[in-house]
Amino acid sequence: MSENPLRVAVVGSGPAGFYAAGALLASDGQPVEVDVIDRLPTPWGLVRLGVAPDHPNIKAVSRAFEKIAAQPGFRFFGNVEVGRDVTHAELAERYDAVLYAVGAQTDRQLGIPGEKLAGSWPATAFVAWYNGHPDFQELEFDLSHERAVVIGNGNVALDIARMLALTPGELDPTDTTEPAIEAINAAGVKEILVVGRRGPVQAAWTPVEVGELGELAGADVIVEPADLELDEASEAELAASPPTVKRNVEYLRDYATRTPRGHPRAIRLRFLTSPVALLGDGKVEGIELVRNELVDGRAVPTGQREALTCGIVFRSVGYRGVELPGVPFDEGSGTIPNVGGRIAPGTYAAGWIKRGPSGVIGTNKKDAAETVALLLEDARARLLPPSTGEDLERLLAERGVAHVLYGDWEAIDLHERGLGEPRGRPRVKLCTWDELLAAAGRNVGSDPRV
Ligand SMILES: Cc1cc2nc3c(=O)[nH]c(=O)nc-3n(C[C@H](O)[C@H](O)[C@H](O)COP(=O)(O)OP(=O)(O)OC[C@H]3O[C@@H](n4cnc5c(N)ncnc54)[C@H](O)[C@@H]3O)c2cc1C
Ligand SMILES: NC(=O)c1ccc[n+]([C@@H]2O[C@H](COP(=O)([O-])OP(=O)(O)OC[C@H]3O[C@@H](n4cnc5c(N)ncnc54)[C@H](OP(=O)(O)O)[C@@H]3O)[C@@H](O)[C@H]2O)c1
Repeated sequence: MSENPLRVAVVGSGPAGFYAAGALLASDGQPVEVDVIDRLPTPWGLVRLGVAPDHPNIKAVSRAFEKIAAQPGFRFFGNVEVGRDVTHAELAERYDAVLYAVGAQTDRQLGIPGEKLAGSWPATAFVAWYNGHPDFQELEFDLSHERAVVIGNGNVALDIARMLALTPGELDPTDTTEPAIEAINAAGVKEILVVGRRGPVQAAWTPVEVGELGELAGADVIVEPADLELDEASEAELAASPPTVKRNVEYLRDYATRTPRGHPRAIRLRFLTSPVALLGDGKVEGIELVRNELVDGRAVPTGQREALTCGIVFRSVGYRGVELPGVPFDEGSGTIPNVGGRIAPGTYAAGWIKRGPSGVIGTNKKDAAETVALLLEDARARLLPPSTGEDLERLLAERGVAHVLYGDWEAIDLHERGLGEPRGRPRVKLCTWDELLAAAGRNVGSDPRV
């Protein structure tokens, strides 16, 4: 490294944080040092804790991130939460620039009566639970009722529906947590009803995920032909749609012709239907739905209502960013206000906290590159505020924060893979803070926050 490298703190080690780190370290002519900070002791964000465990090929994108982490100038500080262990002002003081890539840490609400009943869950919580996020392992999902309802027509809704429908044989080779595998295997769920407020043409999901539904070993996929009858506007929209949307509709049309094979579980897809209320005395016992019609592409309720019994509801209507103390935040969009990733010279954003909770892993690469280009432009134009250059490690040591370095994460990784190997699984995740910090060689009792 040169004597005066540009020192950047990247907050968040998901795809956006890693792609930003990669772009910074690859910058021409400007030596850069990057400290990637994450509140968790483990990197990769939603690649580890969001992507469905039965999609190991997608999780394997982490290999690209490992290569970035191996580059000179890269450091990882896990188990350090910005806003709790260190403030934005303290980072801004120490680094030439701070880049936020903290994702969208909570869920959007439906705003309907009964939403807070026991048994009404945000997708965020269920996904984090089956993936082993250490903040979500105490949750108990009652899967004993015959019908589970998933609200939303995005890929996360399909992940949840599919996970609920996987057989023991399909779950076994994955890194789903043990309690989640046991709960799904023992579930009394027979029907997983996926409810979309608009039509099949307007659904947000993508063909690979829709196609997978038809391949499940233990679940039928059921679509009523009447649900696929399109109004004139949707016909026109379909004709003008990209091939992905056409492929989605082809899959659905195929499903509508199928005779159920009598599998133990069924995924039923319904369209033009919105939840009006979750019903029940203290816990979810049913759902009231209303039929919608499309008006100028929007779902508008008709008077046609019905109530269905169900025991659990997953609200999968999108993730939402969370405000960080000392950093601007737009309540409406749940993002940090920015232009092309620049919040102000010296402070930047990338990924879901920059543009909102949409886009696949790869989308964050271009997004992070755009932000990094502006950061480097500001550095060249000498617009970055002055910094002390003081090492973050010193501050963390003073505060007794048991931070986890990249080598410590590698110890966790090795440990998890070792547990998985004899069982033919990619890894068995450690999912409590104590287990993770112990595997990282941290003395759990020494951390005042644990
Ligand atoms: C359930 C689910 C499944 C998905 N499956 C796929 C898929 O199969 N294929 C695909 O291409 N895309 C998938 N995606 C989309 C993909 O995961 C996202 O595009 C991507 O993860 C967004 O990257 P990010 O870095 O902005 O956020 P994240 O991945 O959420 O990373 C944010 C990181 O910031 C950290 N952080 C948050 N707050 C703080 C703080 N205060 N201090 C320090 N660290 C903090 C978090 O711990 C986290 O590690 C999926 C998304 C979801 C929700
Ligand atoms: N395998 C994969 O590649 C994969 C897996 C998971 C996630 N991802 C990606 O991660 C991103 C986030 O996924 P996501 O599923 O959380 O979000 P999403 O793609 O934005 O889908 C959200 C869904 O919720 C619906 N919705 C929103 N508000 C609603 C309301 N009040 N009532 C009823 N329905 C409502 C939306 O319908 P409207 O369209 O009508 O608003 C939409 O169908 C997406 O880009 C997704 O592709 C990818």
